[in-house]
This record gives sequence, structure tokens and C-alpha cells, in this order.
Amino acid sequence: MDDSSPDGWPGLLHLEGRTRIRLIEGAESRALGPRTKKSGVAFYNPAMSGNRTRSVLLLGHILDRGILGDGTIYALDGLCATGIRARRWINELPAEMSARISATLVDLDPVSLSWAMKSHEMYPPEHGNGSLEPVVGDLRRVVLDSGRHWVDLDPFGTPIPFLDSAMQSLARSAVIEVSATDSAALTGSSKKPLLRRYGARVRTDCLAHDSGLRVLLAVVARTAARHGRCISPLLSVWDSHHLRVSVRVRKSLEGANSVEENIGWRVHSPSVDELGASIGSGLHHGVSELVEPMSCLLPFDYPVDRSDKRISGPMWVGQIGCSEAMSSMTVDRALEICGPREGSVTEQLEWGSREIMVARRQIANSVGNISDESGVIDANHLVVVDDLASWLGIGAPPSPKRMASLLREAGYRAGLANYGRPAFRTDAPWDDIGEAAFSLQPPM
Ligand SMILES: C[S@@+](CC[C@H](N)C(=O)[O-])C[C@H]1O[C@@H](n2cnc3c(N)ncnc32)[C@H](O)[C@@H]1O
Repeated sequence: MDDSSPDGWPGLLHLEGRTRIRLIEGAESRALGPRTKKSGVAFYNPAMSGNRTRSVLLLGHILDRGILGDGTIYALDGLCATGIRARRWINELPAEMSARISATLVDLDPVSLSWAMKSHEMYPPEHGNGSLEPVVGDLRRVVLDSGRHWVDLDPFGTPIPFLDSAMQSLARSAVIEVSATDSAALTGSSKKPLLRRYGARVRTDCLAHDSGLRVLLAVVARTAARHGRCISPLLSVWDSHHLRVSVRVRKSLEGANSVEENIGWRVHSPSVDELGASIGSGLHHGVSELVEPMSCLLPFDYPVDRSDKRISGPMWVGQIGCSEAMSSMTVDRALEICGPREGSVTEQLEWGSREIMVARRQIANSVGNISDESGVIDANHLVVVDDLASWLGIGAPPSPKRMASLLREAGYRAGLANYGRPAFRTDAPWDDIGEAAFSLQPPM
């Protein structure tokens, strides 16, 4: 890589999390959304800062628990643009964790990598640990050069072109994080790209983003299986314009052979037979006599009519997150690791207490209800309260917090869901969900 400064250097100083970055003038806007997708201008999207914060926290959790062993973690920020993600891994994690990270930054665009490395030289991690190596090239080729423990895919649009080679590059035990900004496809609004890229259909209802996450997980699981691996989801998040799944991947022919055990369908307004099959497969909680469930999951071998508009899938029907990983993502932890603090950096930015507060609030928001949901992530009933209100014919959507609390009082597990619409997750049967909702909002 050429050591000379890119055009426009040093640009403007920006702070994301606790990491300083220099951005070409015009790219530092705090407005949601990217400023440019042209090559030759390092791409920076502030709307993805929460995604990157969660990436730092998840890597921290995995290192803390020794889940990928206790040696060097070979990590790849596969489509790195400004390199802000990998720089945040090594800057913000505690010194002893960063010391274990050997990260490679890959991008097709040499100008992006030049901005990334110049920022890194100007603002290296204070603790001096962690290493970064830039590689200009096509990720699909570069990724196969060596085994990695951690691979991040954050493309423009769909991750499909990169999945297969990234999967092959993984060490025996590894983590892959996959973002998808083609959410119109994954959530069923753009039906043809959904079928073409992901081989699935999704009903466009309030659960469409959950279905989209599950479709993406199914594709990641099948890709893993083709390479003799199996997956366990760590975190699945819908965040404004994108979907993101993070999964642990292990070499296991046995796991790969049984991939279809976790793949199936979602059916809206299920029939008695469909419900029976769902309960029989452990995908639905309890028999309901008074309140019909809004939807249920079905196993892959259930004969579905794919032209039936009620059906979404094929999709992942297993749990979409790991309780332990999710419970580590508290607001306190997020602020402790990634929250900017008053000091020389904020002085350099001429930030007052208000700017610091706004930046810390953004960090807190990036973990949303993740830790609340951690204790119920294995429960199958995700209920969006707007949908519930119209399904039950009640006046207004009940508060998800109150619903969760009533269901807990009734002896079930329930918690707020980390979903882009107000929702709760529970293992309560639908009769009890209905009873709790009617107690809060009588039928119209
Ligand atoms: C959405 S941006 C990545 C944003 C970045 N991960 C972040 O957190 O800011 C996608 C990047 O992928 C790069 N890119 C596109 N196709 C590529 C390929 N085949 N190999 C390597 N990089 C590629 C683009 O140059 C662009 O910088």
C-alpha cells in the first residue's frame, strides 16, 4: 500500500464510540445515512455505529469467556471502508483483550484503506496493543489466504456473494457476523430478489423483520453445512435499515448433517393441523382453546403449499440468539467499554457536556432491550403489540412492558423484545397472552 496521504487528508476529526477517526470533509455528518457509495471516497455511515458497538461488545464477551481459546484471534474486517470497526475492536476493548487481536482490514478501494491506516497511525490504541494489517483486494480472494476466528461481512446490500468464501476461511471454531442492507428483499417487499438470493418467501407483516433475520440465518446455516460446519446464533438484530446476524461456527459433520432440524417455516393464522405439528415439534408453547395464535413455526418436513400467502420461509426456526452473550450486553457494559468520556479527546472535538451526553445515549441505545430479552430468547412467541391489538380486536396496543410483567406474574417467562417495533417474547400459551391483553385493554 502507498504510504502517501490520500487527497483531502487530514479531513475532519470524528469520534465514534471511543475511537477517533479522520473523515473526508462531508462524510462526518451526524445525519442518518451514508454520504457516498462511490469508490475513492472512504465510505462512512453513522447509522451503522450501533452495529459496530455491538460488534465490539460481542467480541469482548467471546474473549472474556475464552470461547475461541486463549491464543491470538485472527480477525477480518472484510469490507472495511474506513476501518472504523476493526479500529474500534482494538481501541476500545481492554488492553489484555486487544493484545490478542490480529486484525486484517480488506477493501477493494485503496483510498479507503489509506484513510483507515492514516487514522490508525494518528490515533493508535492508547494501550498500544492489537495489530492491524491492510490488504487491498477482492474479499472473495483475500479471505481464503488463511484461517480466521472472526470474520465481519458488512457489504453494500446483500452479503450473499461473500458468504461462501468467508465460511471456508473460518478456523475450526469461529464467529462470523453478517450484515444485510437489502432489507426490502429479506422482509418480503421485494419478492424476486428474496427468492433469487435467499430462495425464500416472507409475508410482509409485523414479524417480517424477524422472518428476514431467520431467512438470513437459514442461508448462513446451509452455507456452513456445505462446508462441514454448523452454526449457533449469538445475536440477531434488526436496526433501522439493516439486518444483522452473528453466529458461532464450528466444524462438525454431525451438526452439518442435521442442519434441517433448525430450518422450517412460519405460518400466519395457522390451522389446527399446523398448530398440532408446531406443538409436536416443540416450536409452539401450549394448547390454546380461546385465543387463536397469530402465527406459528413449522418444521421443514411439514408439507406446505409455497404459493400459500400465509407461509414464510424456509427460515431458521431455532433460537436466534445466545442467552449468555445477550445478557452481557447491558447499558452499563456498553458505556463502560464504548462510551466517550470527558477528557482530552472531547476537548479536541470541542464537545461540551451536551454532546458527550448525546454520544453516550447513542451507545446506550445500541444495546436496546438485548439483555432484557436474553432470558427468554429461547421462547418461540414473539408478539408485536400493534399486531396483537388488531388480532384481538382491542382498542389500543397494550404496553409490552406490562404484558411481560403480567405474564411473569402468571408464572411464565416473558421479557421485552429487542425488535424494531414494540414487542415482547414469552413462552406463555396464547390463551394467557389473550387474557393478559384483555385485562389491559378490553375488546372494542
Ligand atoms: C458498506 S461498506 C463497509 C462499511 C464498513 N464495514 C463500516 O463499518 O464502516 C462496503 C465496502 O465494501 C467494499 N467492497 C465492495 N466490494 C468488495 C469486494 N469484492 N472486496 C473487498 N471490498 C469490497 C467497498 O469499497 C466499501 O468500502
